[in-house]
Amino acid sequence: MSSNTRGSWGSRFGFVLAAAGSAVGLGHIWRFPYVTGENGGAAFVILYILCVFMIGVPILFAELSLGRHSHKNPVGAIKAIAPHGVWKYLGYLGVATGLFILSYYTLIAGWTFGYIFKTLLQNPVTFDDFSTNAPLNALLYVIFLLMTIGVVYGGIRGGIERWSKILMPILPVILIFIIIYSLTLEGAMEGVRFYLRPDFSVITGETIMIALGQAFFANSLGMGAMITYGSYLDKKENIIAAGTTVVAFGIVISFLAGFAIFPAVFAMGKSPAEGAALVFVILPEIFEAMPGGLLIGTLFFLLLAIAALTSAISLLEVPVAFLIDERKMRRKVATWLVGGITLIFGIPSALSFGASDFFSNLPFWTDQSFFGMMDYIFGSIALPLGGMLFSIFVAWRWGLVGANKEIALGNETFLGIQSKMWGIVIKYICPIVIFFVFLFQTGLLTW
Ligand code: TRP
Repeated sequence: MSSNTRGSWGSRFGFVLAAAGSAVGLGHIWRFPYVTGENGGAAFVILYILCVFMIGVPILFAELSLGRHSHKNPVGAIKAIAPHGVWKYLGYLGVATGLFILSYYTLIAGWTFGYIFKTLLQNPVTFDDFSTNAPLNALLYVIFLLMTIGVVYGGIRGGIERWSKILMPILPVILIFIIIYSLTLEGAMEGVRFYLRPDFSVITGETIMIALGQAFFANSLGMGAMITYGSYLDKKENIIAAGTTVVAFGIVISFLAGFAIFPAVFAMGKSPAEGAALVFVILPEIFEAMPGGLLIGTLFFLLLAIAALTSAISLLEVPVAFLIDERKMRRKVATWLVGGITLIFGIPSALSFGASDFFSNLPFWTDQSFFGMMDYIFGSIALPLGGMLFSIFVAWRWGLVGANKEIALGNETFLGIQSKMWGIVIKYICPIVIFFVFLFQTGLLTW
């Protein structure tokens, strides 16, 4: 099937851009600082980087090659290799995970959108008042969801891609401004220590699980987004080079985001373990106080909203591509259907920040909100689980010969030592390490 009938990224805009658009988003600037803050700082950062390079990058190559090989969504890609049997459920897992992540991702993206105006209009509303305002949250949620739907079905991608190409490089520059200001605050050094001086005693099985989950989340891995994007990829593109570029850019953005946040957190006497609200509490305070904060803050939230949009598109695109390819649905119908389901699951998440007592403090899970539960189950558990199964599928079911051949198109040199190393990692290291992380996390295994 030609990629165009499935609604592809315009190939002339280049694949790196589309993949970077999917990867770089709230995961780096909102989620990375918040999980780092909750999980002990520097030691977590090191674990995270290890997870990205040891597990994330090899799985990225696996997903991209699987997608390009089959030109299909996750379910179709798996069926193209294993038409019968249970493997297709792995594809379904990916499709469902995409939908559920989108349901709460949209909420945070909506906040980002709202914060553009809050900053621009110098509205002093606190995060607590903001997040408990149910009608406002609902409105922002729906606006952002409609924008995502509009892109996925209307195909204004060319515009979005062009814009992100111009705007995304500005993001690190703005972060550097914020970092410089953050570092001048009194007490900032304590934050730098928290962020850069590791204390490995804080690491538990749970911490490793969350670092691994973050490595998947930030790089859009483990649910087939990169299979779907790989399916729109030209055979002459270099999967290794493109994949590595995307991951490296993401690491830089994450690292800078943490550096912008933590010195300020400590200087302001706040707790780094604030949770999902962290950057929305800290950043506005920085922008209020720093010279030029109005402009820098507005621009920052605008860029973040755009980064979030290019990521949300990829989350929506997976279930939509599945419904089009496998259920022969029209793109329009599929997009509205998935958007509608997303909204239903988004409502309890939107009420998780104080608007509803029940959803803010689930009675059956200590200290966990509905939002927190969704992010934990899908962001931290389902993605590594999917990644483990994808690596097993590619290495053991599809086979390394096929995968190597696919990657080598567009990169001849891969067939040497690189393919041997990748083969060992994807065949043994990835599945085994992820499996052990699960054992640690469930407490079946301890240090
Ligand atoms: N990686 C994106 C971010 O960091 C979020 C995202 C987009 C994602 N597509 C994904 C996460 C697929 C997991 C799977 O904001």
